[in-house]
Amino acid sequence: MPYAHITGWGMSVPETVLTNDDLAKIIDTNDEWIRGHTGIRERRIASENQFPSTLAVDASIKALQVANLKPTDIDLIICATSSPEYIFPATACLIQDELGATKAGAFDLLAACTGFIYATNMAAQSIRSGSIRNALVIGAETLSRFVDWKDRNTCILFGDGAGAFVLQASDQPGGVLSAVMHSDGSGGDALSLPGGGSHIPATEASIHEGKHYIHMDGKKVFRFATRVMGQAAKEVLELAGLTTNDVQWIIPHQANFRIIETAAKYLKMPLDKFIINVDRYGNTSTASIPIATVEAVEKGLLKNGDKIVLVGFGAGLTWGALAAEWTGPIPAEHKVHPESYRTWARTRSFMRRIVRFIEGLIWGRDS
Ligand code: UT7
Repeated sequence: MPYAHITGWGMSVPETVLTNDDLAKIIDTNDEWIRGHTGIRERRIASENQFPSTLAVDASIKALQVANLKPTDIDLIICATSSPEYIFPATACLIQDELGATKAGAFDLLAACTGFIYATNMAAQSIRSGSIRNALVIGAETLSRFVDWKDRNTCILFGDGAGAFVLQASDQPGGVLSAVMHSDGSGGDALSLPGGGSHIPATEASIHEGKHYIHMDGKKVFRFATRVMGQAAKEVLELAGLTTNDVQWIIPHQANFRIIETAAKYLKMPLDKFIINVDRYGNTSTASIPIATVEAVEKGLLKNGDKIVLVGFGAGLTWGALAAEWTGPIPAEHKVHPESYRTWARTRSFMRRIVRFIEGLIWGRDS
């Protein structure tokens, strides 16, 4: 059975920074409260022409560069997102087209902020089963579009960004070691985006009532998160036959510094074993774990051979954890340039649209 290694990683965040002081100009809040209750100092906000797929493609190309893979080498793209561009088509398909990943199956995975852990596990299991060799797993968000900028309970928390991993089959031991995925739908009302789906379709009334915004009972989510984060990390370590002493880094979902602190206490681990960047990006949902991972690698903190635990929680309610041995890219003889496929991918996409248009003329629109 092949092992599933994490061989590439990349991240992309919008340039625009929204600080706590900026927020204090539009709602009744202040830097001291936000930092004290969440640890967040600033977050990134997508510009009008940036979408989850825009950020995801940027992050994915960087991940493919590290893994030294061409877009055409990818067998599967899973995009975990809480802010998909459409209900359908899947954001993963937009990414597939932009990258020119012509051989890849592509789908979105909705497990809210736990989505990246679920998606990485799904990709790893597909590799372990032998059905695919190369997967691209993405967490991508522009949650700022679903935030009610008049609701100080939520608008201070969320930010935009994307992160991506490449997973590859290898005969060498390592890579993803174990994973746990949990859910409890009885808590679905604690954190939801109720409007725009088939239960509450978008209408004038639904918009008037603000159903298209994120609704959250912060205290409920806080209590749930502090209970499950440490438990899930412990569970995944036991499954992998490891203890906290074997682990170099815990990479938690970046929702709130106080939640991470509680998990550290539960695990009896020092906070300096946790990768924390919630201060600079806020909660980027599915993107928070890969962004924190990429920063840890780029700072030289995360090294080959390190054992890591990714752990998260989110709407659903969902929670989960994944243990991995960090092994880095698989050595290759030739350097490939995934970025050079962009122009070809755009041309291909354009040509396919033309072919469909011509087919429509020949066969008629009703056939
Ligand atoms: O990916 C999962 C995403 N969600 C989460 O992780 C959310 C988890 N929950 C939390 O992080 C915290 O519950 C919050 C940060 C959302 C809120 O912190 P809290 O310590 O639970 O505050 P609270 O809601 O109990 O509010 C305390 C006080 C209230 O005032 P009163 O009623 O005591 O007078 C709020 O009205 O703070 C007030 N408050 C604020 N004040 C200034 C609430 N939000 C703000 C604000 N600025 N932004």
